[in-house]
Amino acid sequence: MSERAQFATKMGVIATSVGSAVGLGNIWRFPYEAGVHGGGAFILIYILCVLLLGIPVIIAEFVIGRSTHKNANSAIKLLAPGSKFRYVSYIGIIASVMILSFYSVVAGWILEYLFQSIIGNLNGHTSQEYSEMFNSLTGSPWRSVLWTTLFLGANFFILRKGVQKGIERISNLLMPILFLLLLLFCVNSLLLPNAQKGIEFMFRPDFTQISPSMIVGAMGQAFFSLSLGLTCLLTYASYFNDKTPLVKSATIIAILDTFVAILAGIIIFPAVFSFGAEPTAGPKLVFEILPNIFQQMPGGYLWSIAFFILLFFASITSTISMSEIFITFCTEEYRMSRKKATRINIAIALVLGTLCALSFNSLSHITLFDKTVFDLFDYISSNIMLPAGGFILAVFVGWVMNKNIVKKQLTNNGELNVRTMRPILFCIKYVAPIAIVVIFLYVIGFFDYVSTLLF
Ligand code: PFF
Repeated sequence: MSERAQFATKMGVIATSVGSAVGLGNIWRFPYEAGVHGGGAFILIYILCVLLLGIPVIIAEFVIGRSTHKNANSAIKLLAPGSKFRYVSYIGIIASVMILSFYSVVAGWILEYLFQSIIGNLNGHTSQEYSEMFNSLTGSPWRSVLWTTLFLGANFFILRKGVQKGIERISNLLMPILFLLLLLFCVNSLLLPNAQKGIEFMFRPDFTQISPSMIVGAMGQAFFSLSLGLTCLLTYASYFNDKTPLVKSATIIAILDTFVAILAGIIIFPAVFSFGAEPTAGPKLVFEILPNIFQQMPGGYLWSIAFFILLFFASITSTISMSEIFITFCTEEYRMSRKKATRINIAIALVLGTLCALSFNSLSHITLFDKTVFDLFDYISSNIMLPAGGFILAVFVGWVMNKNIVKKQLTNNGELNVRTMRPILFCIKYVAPIAIVVIFLYVIGFFDYVSTLLF
């Protein structure tokens, strides 16, 4: 069928996709989004989005990728010649570059925190001082740009040397360790004074918090965290072999990813209330809370170093998967060399990433809709482009693609008995596309407009 490489083992499939999914989205973005949007109700809607939109769209991406063994553009050309649906690959490429840019800024902060941990500077300060430490990092143009550049440099090196498979293998060994570390930190957080308040904040939903911006935020977070809607998982699925169980793999990926996010919440929120901080702090939340947590743990110096190293690996397996979207497209569609595609990808990310890093300091006055460049990149890519991409992919698989091919993919040519097939197809065809459109209409105020017309 194709001479492209394929994943050798079942573990390879899951581990690589989980490597892409688990990253800063779970440990940095999830707690801050949940904090900004009031906790429990956000988390509940987030979980609904993962179940009703996330898993079906992962499966849609898997079906397209595995049935063709091609990148999104060629895959859709093959499945539906002449169809405009293939333009979804452009959404994916643009979104992947935007995400790579602001993600590298945050990963740069992780590198600085690793550095500060190693030199022993992350210990022995007050909450106020930790807050100032973060502000001084993001407030300094040269430091933010330096760390962003170093992180992108590491990416470039890995992609350029073609050692990403090696990095993924190391990361696959490290991820279970990260997992164990998170479990341990959870226990530690649960033992903090006032921990119960944090747990209530997470698990007792306050439905008065529900708003259009919260719902679109939960949907965007689900897509971001699952690396969904930008054909990243489609590209990975093009390397799956015919034995990979798509439904089962998608479910495992979604469960693991959500589990890591919830663990991060259980680490952060009890600590937020214990240290008298504000859950609504935004992007700086985990950077202010984590040092407080480490310093009250016995052996905190080592824990913090281990944690930031592991988080660095989790981030880099995510950014490799972002770059792969761009690189696979350029090499397969334009016959560009891998080296050149990598150079272009990282060069664009460096320019845009610098703008994102500077949006906390020299360029903080440049805003659009009250958002800085960093916030705008994050908002547009996560909350608009990824769900839009997910909508197009779900409609394509649900309505355009040949039904027999879809069913054969889900059952591995009839070998598997997939009991959830009907609800999954129903979600791909109706629930996911309709929910995404309704949420978009809700956020632009369409329903308020209609109700003013009616009443
Ligand atoms: N899912 C990643 C995370 O949660 O950190 C972020 C991400 C990776 C988004 C790859 C998009 C992507 F294509």
